[in-house]
Amino acid sequence: MKLADNKATLSFSNGTPSVDLPVYHGNVGPDVVDIRKLYAQTGMFTYDPGFLSTASCQSAITYIDGDKGELLYRGYPIEQLATNCDFMETCHLLLYGNLPDAAGKANFTQRVSNHTMVNEQMQFFLRGFRRDAHPMAIMTGLVGALSAFYHDSTDINNPEHREISAIRLIAKMPTLVAMAYKYSAGQPYMYPKNNLSYAGNFMHMMFATPCEEYVVNPVIERALDRIFVLHADHEQNASTSTVRLCGSSGTNPFAAIAAGVACLWGPAHGGANEACLNMLEDIQKMGGISKVGQFMEQVKDKNSGVKLMGFGHRVYKNYDPRAKLMQETCKEVLTALGLENDPLFKLAMALEKIALEDDYFVQRKLYPNVDFYSGIVQRAIGIPVSLFTAIFALARTVGWIAQLNEMIGDPEYKIGRPRQLFTGSVKRDVMPIAQR
Ligand code: SDX
Repeated sequence: MKLADNKATLSFSNGTPSVDLPVYHGNVGPDVVDIRKLYAQTGMFTYDPGFLSTASCQSAITYIDGDKGELLYRGYPIEQLATNCDFMETCHLLLYGNLPDAAGKANFTQRVSNHTMVNEQMQFFLRGFRRDAHPMAIMTGLVGALSAFYHDSTDINNPEHREISAIRLIAKMPTLVAMAYKYSAGQPYMYPKNNLSYAGNFMHMMFATPCEEYVVNPVIERALDRIFVLHADHEQNASTSTVRLCGSSGTNPFAAIAAGVACLWGPAHGGANEACLNMLEDIQKMGGISKVGQFMEQVKDKNSGVKLMGFGHRVYKNYDPRAKLMQETCKEVLTALGLENDPLFKLAMALEKIALEDDYFVQRKLYPNVDFYSGIVQRAIGIPVSLFTAIFALARTVGWIAQLNEMIGDPEYKIGRPRQLFTGSVKRDVMPIAQR
């Protein structure tokens, strides 16, 4: 970051001496006012619940321009990556800062393939869950449990340990998600097949059975790979910030990523794809497109607590570029599967059209986000709704680990420890119980 010529001066109307604060430029995007010395100089904190105006770190990984609807991974537009690259190239880009050449890609892919199996003991963790346990409850447990197999061999301050942890996590997430699915289906786990692509191997572990050969559908393989690319990273979102804060204590990467999985589960975040599909199915049950107007009235009624899931975003005040790409992928997959008349896809497009013309949404700059169409394409592929967020976690693991490693690799990083504005009881004495 570069010190700006100008500085910020904080002055107080009650005569408290003003304070000069340095301003820094990034390479693109908003400047930052450096408030690190504010408390020492003024005895005051800044106040920003939800971090609407707070940069928690400096990062070189992902840049979002919410007004333009622009998303760049290490400078490359998401539209170009989703069209010209696959998930292994995207992982290499996010982790190391550059797209690999053919040899580099083959080497990286081989290293990931060499770590796709999980310890045989992992299957016994699943047995503790009911068969109908939510896959994200299982994933939160399984990813955290990986710590038990690597905790004593993970020195996060050792770059090589950080590197192998990244490879292990990227490699094992598909295996764990597929195991969670097979467990819920009461089917035997399928071991990874390292001669398949990353997405193809995931499909095999999900949909193959020991009883017959499973052939990967290349259209679905490409669609899944693109879904992984679109979900790979997204700046300092809630789950990434969770991973950074958790990792800042020096805990092992598996525990920090497990914290990210837990945060992503929420319906305001990664859980929105599952919530969005359930919303579409509810509207369909109510009567489909003819009932959209009635549903929209509920959404606009603050007291209803109903939101249009898959719409709105803290940063994007324009169309989420991933939503556009996901809609295209939807069309491709539905057409390939002969489902172009899928009623939920038609319903989603009708909802989007109505919302984008409705003043409530226009005024609030609410557009479809990555979760609006992702569920429809996953459902068409045969992925159960309850597994959608686990797929999001699978894809986002590379972003989480890249961001965690960027933080730990920064010699200046400290444990994250925010403060508060205290509004509780001031000091008081405990009275004997007879006098309370
Ligand atoms: C992801 O941060 C990331 O980058 C996340 C993510 C990633 O890749 O990591 O992009 C993935 O989490 C996408 C978001 C998925 N969540 C949803 O689709 C759930 C529905 N959306 C919302 O809950 C909401 O839009 C948020 C949580 C996404 C953003 O909320 P903000 O930024 O806190 O905005 P807000 O709640 O203050 O909304 C502003 C106004 C409010 O109305 P007013 O009080 O001004 O009258 O817009 C309204 C909100 O009520 N609003 C919605 C709405 N989203 C916001 N009203 C109806 N339906 C919605 N979906």
